[in-house]
Amino acid sequence: MPTGSANAVVGLHWGDEGKGKVCDLLAREHEVVVRYNGGANAGNSVVVNGERFALHLIPTGVLNPGTLLVVGNGVVVDPAKLLDEIGALEARGIDMSRLFVSDRAHVVLPHHKAEDELREAYLRDRLAAAEPGLHATGSPRIGQIGTTKRGIGPCYADKVQRAMAVRVGDLLRPDVLREKIDASCGYRDILFRELKPEGVPEPKAGEILETALAWGEALRARITDTTYLLHDRLAAGDRVLFTGANATLLDVDHGTYPFVTSSSCSALGIGVGTGVPTTRLGRVLGVAKAYCTRVGAGPFPTELTDELGDRIRERGREYGTTTGRPRRCGWLDLVATRYAAMLNGATGLALTMLDVLSGIGELRLCVGYHLPSGEVTERFLPDASELESVEPVWETMAGWDEDLGHVRTPGELPPAARAYVERIAAFVGVPVELISVGPDRAQTIEGRLG
Ligand code: IMP
Repeated sequence: MPTGSANAVVGLHWGDEGKGKVCDLLAREHEVVVRYNGGANAGNSVVVNGERFALHLIPTGVLNPGTLLVVGNGVVVDPAKLLDEIGALEARGIDMSRLFVSDRAHVVLPHHKAEDELREAYLRDRLAAAEPGLHATGSPRIGQIGTTKRGIGPCYADKVQRAMAVRVGDLLRPDVLREKIDASCGYRDILFRELKPEGVPEPKAGEILETALAWGEALRARITDTTYLLHDRLAAGDRVLFTGANATLLDVDHGTYPFVTSSSCSALGIGVGTGVPTTRLGRVLGVAKAYCTRVGAGPFPTELTDELGDRIRERGREYGTTTGRPRRCGWLDLVATRYAAMLNGATGLALTMLDVLSGIGELRLCVGYHLPSGEVTERFLPDASELESVEPVWETMAGWDEDLGHVRTPGELPPAARAYVERIAAFVGVPVELISVGPDRAQTIEGRLG
């Protein structure tokens, strides 16, 4: 598959598909790697020669020496976390002078994290308890989203509410910064006084300003207009790889709303999150696990709540990179996968964690939904309350017992594993171009199937 000058790696489910490893592999064919959405809610783990790297804000291409790294304007940056990450990588001898951050990215402040806690606690304790029969039809009640508590929602809310939001460029303008922090802390004071949250620290404008000014100094050399930087690099012939955080079904517009994150996670977000139009995109690799997982609340039609789900969780080490929470596990939902591939304009699929399914026995794939009306549909229902009411239409496929960890070419796959991959490609209508059979870079099968 030829690689164009602008390419993308995006997750097709609810995150944690293994984008980190795929992005790390593709970064070697690109001079620039760009993050366009999300914040420290994301967690990419990459294993190189047995050493695990957990990345939250820095684009995964960092392990590829020389690649220019860009944090785009669509990202919400927690500077404390970013600086920690830079320091940890430098301590391992990795050159970080090639990291640039958009002056228009937004800054996550301590009170955004406090407000994230507060909102979740409010939703859990007050709304759900006060109105237990709110939605009697089996649809999800208004309840907590199960956020990562990284301040993502409140920071993006400030961005669209405008006046008081702090952008990375403001960290270098003390007067503007003081005014904005004073105003936004004052506003939060009203909220915090009303709710009197236990254990949630009240925002203190003076302390926050001092910290924010120090962040600005520490990041000064990296803060720039990354839109022009990217267009200049493209004009000079560089290949640019865009990497999304979180994933398509968590997209604020197209995901399982309201159980989503607050940004445009799909490839549709690349334009707004970087200033590079999506018409520039050549290859869009959609990353899907060979099964599905989800962290936090929200509908998950193919979820396995039994011992098999536990087995997949243990074998796949399905615990959050960011929060350590156990992930909900289930069969692969092809209806959701095809919807996500369509939204992203995926030109190829990367199928990860195929090795985890060895020895599971017969496998199931969701190829449609039974609706409450009795009808069957092959279309995804992105509204959470609608999706909650469907039952999967199953297709069963033979499993395989062989360990796949050493397979390196499509031809070495056991016939049942190959048939499983080919069925996925056929249903989604997009070829599988890469299969991951273990965490290490080397545990990868490259070659087109389907
Ligand atoms: P937030 O992004 O912290 O506001 O969380 C909103 C929802 O998105 C929650 O269900 C989180 O668990 C989920 N979420 C956010 N980022 C990721 C990710 O990178 N992987 C998996 N789930 C995520």
